[in-house]
Amino acid sequence: MNIILLGPPGAGKGTQAQRLVDERGMKQLSTGDMLRAAVKAGTPIGLKAKAVMEAGELVSDEIVSGIIGDALDELSPETGIIFDGYPRTAAQAESLDEILEARGRSLHHVIELEVNEDALVDRITGRFTCANCGEGYHDRYKLPAKEGVCDKCGSTEFKRRPDDNEETVRTRMAEYRAKTAPILPIYEARSIVSRVDGMASMDAVAGQIADVLNG
Ligand code: AP5
Repeated sequence: MNIILLGPPGAGKGTQAQRLVDERGMKQLSTGDMLRAAVKAGTPIGLKAKAVMEAGELVSDEIVSGIIGDALDELSPETGIIFDGYPRTAAQAESLDEILEARGRSLHHVIELEVNEDALVDRITGRFTCANCGEGYHDRYKLPAKEGVCDKCGSTEFKRRPDDNEETVRTRMAEYRAKTAPILPIYEARSIVSRVDGMASMDAVAGQIADVLNG
């Protein structure tokens, strides 16, 4: 099964994708994570993407569709994929169709996480992750069980994203409204869109997604 998780910054795409990886053995393809890895490694793509990401704007369609195609080539045809943060523009949606078709795959669900944008700044500015395994936390909504120690791997190193400040978050949301939300009708026309209440607790959101996937 191949699915897209769609929603504005902080909607919970990464949180829910990680659950699906853990619970269903699906593979998460997050263009944000892949671009951050490229920036960290100082690759040519990373050098092009760094300033764009720090400004909260979108990296070029060619770059992100290229990395998605390359990532898919690394996976066995049976592996179910969660597209997290991709596609984000009409051109990317078109590329994804081509990428999937060329590999004999199709898209089964587009799950939109519906959220109140005012709550998202709070979610994003409180977010931090384990520097070792990437497990996600939040200053108020999800702290490690033992203070300062990652629940998943035991590391004591944590980090925050450079684009998780209020000004950049506002730009990211404006980009979502202008360029990403308008691609939903493409998938509505195929009757594969489901909406879940992204404002519910993480467990409740996971339950709603499970209902869609099991439905
Ligand atoms: P990307 O990394 O994709 O960031 P984003 O879309 O802005 O989304 P986030 O990762 O911020 O949020 P999320 O929905 O995953 O929320 P999370 O689960 O972490 O993109 C970053 C940048 O890369 C872009 O701005 C762009 O420059 C570039 N880029 C990436 N893809 C691109 C593309 N396709 N095209 C062009 N450019 C691209 O949750 C957030 C916080 O809330 C966490 O702390 C979490 O614990 C908490 N939380 C989650 N769910 C709940 C809940 N139900 N209740 C309470 N708290 C919750």
